[in-house]
Amino acid sequence: MSMNRRTFSAAAAAACVAGALPMTSAFAQKKIVLGFAQVGAESEWRTANTESIKSAAQEAGIDLKFSDAQQKQENQIKAIRSYIAQKVDVIAFSPVVETGFENVLREAKAAKIPVVLTDRSVKVKDDSLYVTFMGSDFVEEGRKAGRWLVENQKGNKGPVNIVELQGTVGSAPAIDRKKGFEEIIKADPKFKIIRSQTGDFTRAKGKEVMEAFLKAEGKNINVLFAHNDDMAIGAIQAIEEAGMKPAKDITIISIDAVKGAFEAMMAGKLNVSVECSPLLGPQLMSAVKDIVAGKPVPKRIITKEGIFPMETAKAEFPSRKY
Ligand code: AHR
Repeated sequence: MSMNRRTFSAAAAAACVAGALPMTSAFAQKKIVLGFAQVGAESEWRTANTESIKSAAQEAGIDLKFSDAQQKQENQIKAIRSYIAQKVDVIAFSPVVETGFENVLREAKAAKIPVVLTDRSVKVKDDSLYVTFMGSDFVEEGRKAGRWLVENQKGNKGPVNIVELQGTVGSAPAIDRKKGFEEIIKADPKFKIIRSQTGDFTRAKGKEVMEAFLKAEGKNINVLFAHNDDMAIGAIQAIEEAGMKPAKDITIISIDAVKGAFEAMMAGKLNVSVECSPLLGPQLMSAVKDIVAGKPVPKRIITKEGIFPMETAKAEFPSRKY
């Protein structure tokens, strides 16, 4: 693309005034171009998020350039640089990790390309480097998980030994979910996190790390807190292979509320899943249109979410969209 939207609009208007182009066709032909740099395909959540973005772009008539960073920050930075070089109208991305994006964001700003953060945020000193951040409140998700556990263990004097499967190291959901969960459980010293390690948000890693936890702690483990459903599902397999009953011998709490988690809950193998909605596509497309039209958009758009204990799974499952 040699012309960005602003240059094109001016050129198209001039052509219309000169009578070279009918007004409607000149503007109708130019679609908004959005460059989206996705984290990867690490989880059921991410697959649903990608699908939501692709279908919403199509529906909104937005020309989407999509790249998959395979959970590597350097790939994501490369993709953003290529969108800058292509002079797209808007760049959106879900940062793999929170830090290290300052330079590329400055490059986008210098090229006058607005940036939208979706799902995950970045830590930057200058928040004018992005227009808006839309996505979940990850700290609150961690708190919801913690509150459910406190309520669930009410009659138990303890100790309640917890193992934690963290998300990708340095990512906003891993940092914030841990923070929110700890904030709630620290009120009662009977809760103890005895092991905590990353499972990188994947089933395979979740299983592998849970195997190591079981080897080291065995029947000492009372609760598993997994930062996403995929890791919990991997861990369930490890628990069963160790001859224990998931959701009975070990209480399991996870986050996302994807269909796989509902299936595990209906099978009686997962106790609860805190919702984290991946369906950000329609919101993103409408923000992109507003930004291009010069309309103001809020700096923070928070996704509304619930929590689903296993008792509700059967009734909720048919209406789940991801
Ligand atoms: O950033 C959202 C998180 O990323 C989801 O909870 C997890 O499943 C995904 O990989």
